[in-house]
Parts: sequence; C-alpha cells; structure tokens
Amino acid sequence: MTQPADIAAQCQSLDELVHSAQQCRVCPALAADRGHVVVGQHPPGARVFVVGEAPGAQEDLTGEPFVGRSGQLLDTVLHDAGLPRSSVAITSVVKCRPPANRTPTRAEIVSCSPWLDQQLQLIDPQIVVALGTVAMQWALGRQARVGEQRGRLQPFRDRQLMVTYHPSAALRFGPNGAPLAALRDDLAIVAAALR
Ligand code: URA
Repeated sequence: MTQPADIAAQCQSLDELVHSAQQCRVCPALAADRGHVVVGQHPPGARVFVVGEAPGAQEDLTGEPFVGRSGQLLDTVLHDAGLPRSSVAITSVVKCRPPANRTPTRAEIVSCSPWLDQQLQLIDPQIVVALGTVAMQWALGRQARVGEQRGRLQPFRDRQLMVTYHPSAALRFGPNGAPLAALRDDLAIVAAALR
C-alpha cells in the first residue's frame, strides 16, 4: 500500500494534501470506523500552527479540528491571548479518531506524521504550538515532560516551538488548575512573539 510518507511530500498545496489525506487507509483500525479524516483548518497567512493529538467524537462527526469540549476551551484561550481561531492553523498529529478516544499508537503516529510534516511546510508558520505529549513528541522526536518543555519558545525546524498543555488536561484539572494557567501563559508568549 502507498504510504503517506510517499504521497504527502509530493503535495504542492494544502488542497491537494487535504484531498490525498482523505483517501488514506494506512491504519486499518482507524480507517474502518472513522466518519471523517480531520485534516485541519488552514486560514491563509496563518503565522501560528496549533497541533493537537487526534480527533475526538465531535471532530470525527464534523470533519473539523477541535470542535468538542477541548476545542471550546481552545477557542477561549486563543481568543483571550489575542490569537483568534480564525487567524491560526489547527490540526492534530493523527487525523483519524482512535476508537474510544484511546491514545494513538506509536505506529499510528509514525504513519500519520508525514501529513503533518508536509502541512508544516505548506503553511510555513512562524510558531508551532504543540498541545500535549503526542504533539510534543512529534516535534521533539523524543519523550519529554510537557511541564519541563513549556513556558518558552525553542528553535524548531527554522521556526519556533511552544510546547504547552493540551486543553483536555486543562479541563481535567479545572479552572483553577495549573495546566489552564500554563496554557494561557504560553499562548500569551506566542502572541507577544508575533508582534
Ligand atoms: N483533541 C485533539 O487533539 N484534536 C482534536 O481535533 C480534538 C481534540
């Protein structure tokens, strides 16, 4: 079977990439049950690229990234940081919903990453925001702790990277929890770096 790695790198536009990714059936367990391949939101001229983990139920239903509970919180914190959702590109490392919202497997992450790598090239943002462990591991290429990597911009493929908490962690720890405060602080750093 043709792999995303072969096809993704040849996509010369985001439209082409979206079309190709929608045909992908490399992960049988994910392709069997999906409603949509959630490739992402790519407004023209976006300078910030937000990367999550994988679609959930609402995203699978609608085909849009971050439209469930995590997405609503993401919208709020982006807006409050001065980064309206309409101005940023948004996707996830894995484009199909894992059954029962389990964490994507290593194999799924490796298989799906070429789409994201090529999205990064085509969007050409100044700053990538990696939400949570899976996105952080895609960016850093190794395991690390979000708590140790967050709070500062770091160099990343001739761009800048902000590792921060996934909104689902912020929801889990509640409105007074450390992850929400950290997420807000980190997005404020991102917004300031764009000015
Ligand atoms: N969580 C993610 O990481 N991505 C989505 O699109 C939705 C929830």
